[in-house]
Amino acid sequence: MAIRSFDPPPRMLMGPGPSAVPSRVLQAMARPCIGHLDPAFVTMMDEVGELLRGAFRTANRLTMAVSAPGSAGMETCLVNLIEPGDVAIIARNGVFGGRMAEIVRRAGGTAVVVDDPWGRAVDPDKVRAALREHPEAKLVAFVHAETSTGAQSDAATLCALAREHGALAVVDAVTSLGGVPVLVDEWGVDAIYSGSQKCLSCTPGLSPISLSERAVAAIAARKQPVQSWFLDLQLVMGYWGGGAKRSYHHTAPIHALYGLHEALVMLHEEGLEAAWARHRLHHAALRAGLEAMGLTMLVPEAERLPQLNAVRVPEGVDEAAVRQLLLRDHGLEIGAGLGELAGKVWRIGLMGHSCDTRHVLGCLAALEGAIATQRAPAATAGAATAGAGVAAARASYAAHAAAS
Ligand SMILES: Cc1ncc(COP(=O)(O)O)c(C=O)c1O
Repeated sequence: MAIRSFDPPPRMLMGPGPSAVPSRVLQAMARPCIGHLDPAFVTMMDEVGELLRGAFRTANRLTMAVSAPGSAGMETCLVNLIEPGDVAIIARNGVFGGRMAEIVRRAGGTAVVVDDPWGRAVDPDKVRAALREHPEAKLVAFVHAETSTGAQSDAATLCALAREHGALAVVDAVTSLGGVPVLVDEWGVDAIYSGSQKCLSCTPGLSPISLSERAVAAIAARKQPVQSWFLDLQLVMGYWGGGAKRSYHHTAPIHALYGLHEALVMLHEEGLEAAWARHRLHHAALRAGLEAMGLTMLVPEAERLPQLNAVRVPEGVDEAAVRQLLLRDHGLEIGAGLGELAGKVWRIGLMGHSCDTRHVLGCLAALEGAIATQRAPAATAGAATAGAGVAAARASYAAHAAAS
């Protein structure tokens, strides 16, 4: 078989990420390559830092994009702050808290894991109890937006708790940045990381991070160098923070950064508040449609993320078959459940450029048809009226338009 150029099939991306990438971002990524120490590129990197400060709502000097995906941002924050023997309190209410605990252990630290049920927010009382039991804890880390379940935790309260107990607050904002408020300075976050491919609507592969002066001081006071050379922020800072005197650390992913720059310019043009409101609007329509189809949401309303909707798979429906049908017949990607939720939920993303009326209505119509093919004839008798999902979503949009 002759291998030819790869031409990806057309897709509607409504999984847990990546989300749709706007053509403006793709066009930016098709521009000519220049050197990564070229003064024009250095200026563009400085602008990326400035735009990220805006997106994170912070004045933190150390704000930049790690040249690797969200997991590398997670690892960068944790391996720079944790030294062998340190204790970290890690909240785990889904897949990604568990990953943080694993990184802490591999860095020679002790992870005190505070568990909450999957599908629920982190319980601040449990974190408070762990901080009282471990006054030596150097940091508290939690996932603001748990992509594996769709639960949103109370970041302001959790960061305040860490601070009261003299611990640093580390926040996973991979799925939250750009979709819901992420207020780094107001909350007193010490280290935060995100991903380019979710609500920022860029291609995957970059991880925006931001660290407070407290976190920078903790890194400067380390007794041992960071075990990872590539992720050692003392070295990376010479590159991102060096301005005109930038020294070589690694070759920046030049086109990925063109893309992130454009995606952040687009977010800036839309306005953060407008982007948050857009995510709420389309989530409300999607939820109304899903519920009209007889489906139920996993996460209680007060803890629900607008950009990641975990929906219970109805009894007797083969969840994988539905996803395959959606992909084959509609080019529509939605996510499967992870870990203990595998086979039990679908995860429908409404992130960034995938968060609009076209995606909501297209998904509801396609999902209704796909579920109908899977239901046992007996169950079809009790199923919602055909078209109920789309009609309910339209009614949600109309109610919003009438109120505004
Ligand atoms: C909450 C959360 N943290 C971390 C990650 C890891 O990011 P990446 O897959 O870009 O490495 C993800 C990815 O989905 C995520 O959703």
